[in-house]
Amino acid sequence: MKITKEQLLKKLGTVMLPDSNLSLADIVTNVIISDKSVILNMELAKQQSAMKNSVEKVAQNIIKENTDAGTRIDVNITTQMKKPKPKPTAQQALSKVKNIIAIASGKGGVGKSTISANLSIALASTGAKVGLLDADVYGPSVPKMFDEETAKPIVRKVNDFDLIIPIEKYGVKLLSIGFFVKPEDALIWRGSMATSALKQLLNETDWGELDYLLIDLPPGTGDIHLTMVQTVPVTGAVIVTTPQDIAIADAIKAVSMFNANKIEVPILGIVENMSWFTPAELPENKYYIFGKDGGKKMAEKYGKELLGQIPIVQSIREQGDKGKPSVLIDNTIASEAFKETANKLIKNIDKRNTNQTPTKVVEMVN
Ligand SMILES: Nc1ncnc2c1ncn2[C@@H]1O[C@H](COP(=O)(O)OP(=O)(O)OP(=O)(O)O)[C@@H](O)[C@H]1O
Ligand SMILES: [Mg+2]
Repeated sequence: MKITKEQLLKKLGTVMLPDSNLSLADIVTNVIISDKSVILNMELAKQQSAMKNSVEKVAQNIIKENTDAGTRIDVNITTQMKKPKPKPTAQQALSKVKNIIAIASGKGGVGKSTISANLSIALASTGAKVGLLDADVYGPSVPKMFDEETAKPIVRKVNDFDLIIPIEKYGVKLLSIGFFVKPEDALIWRGSMATSALKQLLNETDWGELDYLLIDLPPGTGDIHLTMVQTVPVTGAVIVTTPQDIAIADAIKAVSMFNANKIEVPILGIVENMSWFTPAELPENKYYIFGKDGGKKMAEKYGKELLGQIPIVQSIREQGDKGKPSVLIDNTIASEAFKETANKLIKNIDKRNTNQTPTKVVEMVN
């Protein structure tokens, strides 16, 4: 008695795999039938590998019942190793980004996010292509500062990778963990969750072509900073400080971190924020609430450039809260200060790129 390939497949088709809509015929990869032998190759999914022995027995019995005694029966079952979906790397995701600029401070609340938002818009207004990544995964600010609290970025297939498409507002491409989780949920994350969230934003976003990608960092010099320098080549860092001694002391720590052996991210300059208070109705009056020129003196002492001195202006806070950064309102003290700072930053980035070699991704930090 000799069974044909079609007959065998028909018989195998009557036996279903448990918890599956596949029959044994569906998992056949090859059948070779000759006078004295039947070779049947099958492939099981990885999660069905426990059924391997029983599937083999059932298949052997079916062949045995339908062939002469003495026919050699060979049933080979392999388990399919599901290939993990390829993930993009930061190098691929950021391949068309010319400059990655970290905005950092030692002390919290000195105005990093305000400066990042306003500088990104000021840079974009010069015609540059600009992105802003909110890397403060514990306390994201970008959604509120850009009035995009309900925005939900979409994911699109780009070169076979699923990539996040940033939101665009005021000419700037934006991304923040705040677009994906409620801030109160991110607050209780363990460090490893925060760093892997940042890695995902860095590795899996389609920024397209950018002249500048600004990264608004959380305060301090922690895991997020190390994850950033270990994931992307940071062109340079901008250090934000208020003129106050205690803020300067922390800003110096931030400078040391970027300058540390093996990290070696150039400092593009210092932005002194909240330099003086100016009432809108008395623009000539300056009140040095947090001290005078602290950031300027720090820049001189450490041989860094002072990119700008931004006064305390009520509208800077108000416009930030409204989601319409103050640089958008032309001919104000605030917008002029931010635009001047952005122009100096552009010059210093060019200078840095002419005089220094590109930054390397940090391999390992001990
Ligand atoms: N120059 C300024 N004039 C008036 N208000 C300002 C100025 N700079 C920042 N602020 C206000 O100060 C507060 C803190 O600023 P911001 O959130 O930008 O600081 P941060 O350094 O990003 O804080 P964190 O360390 O929490 O991330 C905000 O309410 C902001 O509107
Ligand atoms: Mg902030």
